[in-house]
Amino acid sequence: MRTLLTAALRATALGGAVLLAASTVTIRAAAQELRDEYHQAPRDTVSQEVYDGWKQYNLNCARCHGEDVLGTTIAPHLILSLKPDGPINTKELFVQTVCAGRVPKGMPAWCALGMDIPTIDKIYSYVKSRSDAKMGPGRPAVKREG
Ligand code: HEC
Repeated sequence: MRTLLTAALRATALGGAVLLAASTVTIRAAAQELRDEYHQAPRDTVSQEVYDGWKQYNLNCARCHGEDVLGTTIAPHLILSLKPDGPINTKELFVQTVCAGRVPKGMPAWCALGMDIPTIDKIYSYVKSRSDAKMGPGRPAVKREG
């Protein structure tokens, strides 16, 4: 009787462990489903200014200048443009270029399209952080104040 009971208990414990292992696998799979390549966990914690810039860059600039500012074949690689020896190596040059655009060459005039200077400043903060390698690719998280 006792051995039967022990055996039964062992079986239950084993069953429980198997169940536990199975549910862990299910949870892991669910977590992986949420973290597909389009929904990565944020990697960098940045200021509100840089976060807003990241958002505005993705809304307005990424389609030509590339996701994560990694460049494309149709528009300059802004990580390189903003380097100290690049053609856009000051904030003033950046703001002027983005505001006025180079319309005949395919760069829209963003002020004429209704973008304000504070928004261009925010985009600068983001692109500059990428150029200075202060943040990696992907969606950043906002640093909480205090
Ligand atoms: C429709 C495509 C397009 C979009 C959208 C676009 N750009 Fe451009 N951009 C260009 C092209 C093309 C050039 C290169 C123009 C030239 O040949 O001088 C350029 C040039 C630039 C330059 C100068 C780079 C250099 O090395 O001289 C900056 C800075 C820039 N863009 C920033 C932005 C920002 C910021 C945004 C979003 C607000 C943006 N661009 C959106 C196409 C685009």
